[in-house]
Amino acid sequence: MKGIGLLTLVSSLILSSETMSAQTDYTGLKEIVGDDFKIGVAVGPWHMAGEAAELIKHNYNTMTAENVMKPASIIQRDGSYNFAAGDRIVEFARENGMTMRGHTLLWHASTPRGYLNDAEGNPLTKEQVYEKHEKYIKAVLEHYRGDVVFCWDVVNEALSDGEFESIYRESSPWYKACGPEYIAWAFRTARKYADDNVKLYYNDYNLVDPVKRERCYELLKGLVDAGVPIDGVGLQAHWSHELTEEMIQAAIDRFSSLGLDVHITELDFTVYDNFHGPGAAERQESKVTLPYEGALAERHAEKYEMIFRVLHKNSDKISSVTFWNIHDGSSWLNNFPIRGRMDYPLLFDREFKPKAPFFRIEEYYKSLK
Ligand code: GLA
Repeated sequence: MKGIGLLTLVSSLILSSETMSAQTDYTGLKEIVGDDFKIGVAVGPWHMAGEAAELIKHNYNTMTAENVMKPASIIQRDGSYNFAAGDRIVEFARENGMTMRGHTLLWHASTPRGYLNDAEGNPLTKEQVYEKHEKYIKAVLEHYRGDVVFCWDVVNEALSDGEFESIYRESSPWYKACGPEYIAWAFRTARKYADDNVKLYYNDYNLVDPVKRERCYELLKGLVDAGVPIDGVGLQAHWSHELTEEMIQAAIDRFSSLGLDVHITELDFTVYDNFHGPGAAERQESKVTLPYEGALAERHAEKYEMIFRVLHKNSDKISSVTFWNIHDGSSWLNNFPIRGRMDYPLLFDREFKPKAPFFRIEEYYKSLK
């Protein structure tokens, strides 16, 4: 009896969220930013119906799969590939005339356990690693060939953070197996199988930080000088309040001076402190949830206005801007770096409604007319 009651409740909740339509009586973000750049959002396959789907269609013209197009989602335990979850999103994109950023072909944190070892658990040689992953890159690029996926993050997060470390993330199993050359290898391999119109990006976080920015510049310049086929750089943009206009501008200038296109790939703006790098959780001033009100909410809106002012000014150098998640309730920041601390990093609240920073961006764009 109890079980049936719970079941009914759960199924009616699912039904209502799928049939409820989100509030869309406001100008959508894609209309607000116009031709500046593509404007996108990170999604899961369960967002392709109900309120989430309404919000996506109203505001965005491109999407990134938050997780389901990563190697650890596609590669199955038996080594086979499963594209079903990503296909759901691609299908929705196609039905609604949207595009997608492919994310990502190679990332240390999405490498299945044992993927770089042989059946006995011994590390594969560099040649074996390349052979295995070439098969994967080829399969993915051929599977997602077509009119929807317009670019791929080929390599994600290959750089280290610390000021006194080597420029590369040496703890990555890819670095350990192949040394730094796996980065160029991945771009050359992706270019071999991607359609000509599909663009290839290097994607990383904290690229507005001067130390990491210069480190990334060095990496990208090396690739460009060596004739490696790379089209652009993705600034993840998991930002927080120490961010300044100058920091964003300097990063855009530096990377575009190499002739690379710039994408903002994972934009969110925590209301708490900066969190990347070692000891992020310990460095947090507030370990408890703060209310989204007063000076905190005001600063959040101001910062988003500043960000879009800079992005607009540089729209000739930036071709795509993507938010990392649909609304505050679906953000990974509710569990990072502190589990269960509620964050409010996006333009939409937990009821799918646009909030103050959204309207500040809209006002800014209106002021340009
Ligand atoms: C990185 C990755 C994303 C995502 C976030 C956390 O930025 O590139 O795919 O996993 O971490 O949500």
